Amino acid sequence: MAGEASQRRHVDRAEQLESAALVIARDTERQALFFEGPEGIGKSSLLVEIYERQAAEGVYFVDLARMAAQADVLNELARQARRQGVQVPSYQSTRTRLAESAQVTFDHVRARSTTINVVLAAAADRSIQLASLSDALLDNLVSGARSPVICLDGFEACAAPMRDWLGRDLLPDLLAQPHVSVFVAGRQVPRLSHPHVSSVHTMALPPLDVNAVQEWIETLGFSSLKDEAAAIHETHGGIPGLIDSFLALHLEPHQHTLRSDPENPDTGSDPHSRDG
Ligand SMILES: Nc1ncnc2c1ncn2[C@@H]1O[C@H](COP(=O)(O)OP(=O)(O)O)[C@@H](O)[C@H]1O
Ligand SMILES: [Mg+2]
Repeated sequence: MAGEASQRRHVDRAEQLESAALVIARDTERQALFFEGPEGIGKSSLLVEIYERQAAEGVYFVDLARMAAQADVLNELARQARRQGVQVPSYQSTRTRLAESAQVTFDHVRARSTTINVVLAAAADRSIQLASLSDALLDNLVSGARSPVICLDGFEACAAPMRDWLGRDLLPDLLAQPHVSVFVAGRQVPRLSHPHVSSVHTMALPPLDVNAVQEWIETLGFSSLKDEAAAIHETHGGIPGLIDSFLALHLEPHQHTLRSDPENPDTGSDPHSRDG
């Protein structure tokens, strides 16, 4: 993975990146883009690209597949905020206050209720707590006239309670803040209800076209494949995940001769030249 990361090259997706730039510049009615598509189509890569194009001080990337509970998402956002020098005092004080009151509430409810009431009260309590935590956090993230960019990947990996919370609570709360831009990716993405539908644009990510495959081969410097873009595109149906696996296995025939022929790096592509 480390080797791949250093080789990471994002190609194409011009339309999606342009739409994202408009959202972030608030040059459109839209405040959020949801990217939908099958495994390997390039959703995570696109989100990473959007994330990396932003300057620090308010850009967030959460892989929802790694988040066990709703509160973990808020904690992760808070952690990334602090790392970027965005302080989260309201969030921290809300957490402290809730932690102090939790035991008291629980003892109080248990003292006068049946088991089912304890469970219900605890659940209601949790959702109220989550609401106050996310209110506090959002206040902190936008303070100082910041315009945070929030990328959430792996929506399909969320269990039902997390999906419901994202669709009904967190995403509407984010969109209620006019300076927040939101990007969500998943095999499925949330469908928000009125009035938020109008600020969200859902884009199905298509396979790459032949030109994108050509660009990819060229950025990798694989001259032996420069006439193979159409064949590679066809064999792998334009699916970046499949093309990536194919390219990862590719070795240029002349790779070790390039270094010894610095004056003529391009003509080094003749695999027989080294044998004289
Ligand atoms: N636009 C792109 N340019 C270059 N490589 C890409 C692009 N999109 C996807 N890939 C590569 O394809 C693989 C699968 O993409 P990924 O973003 O993980 O798909 P998804 O999240 O939709 O399952 C990754 O290894 C990534 O490096
Ligand atoms: Mg992914």
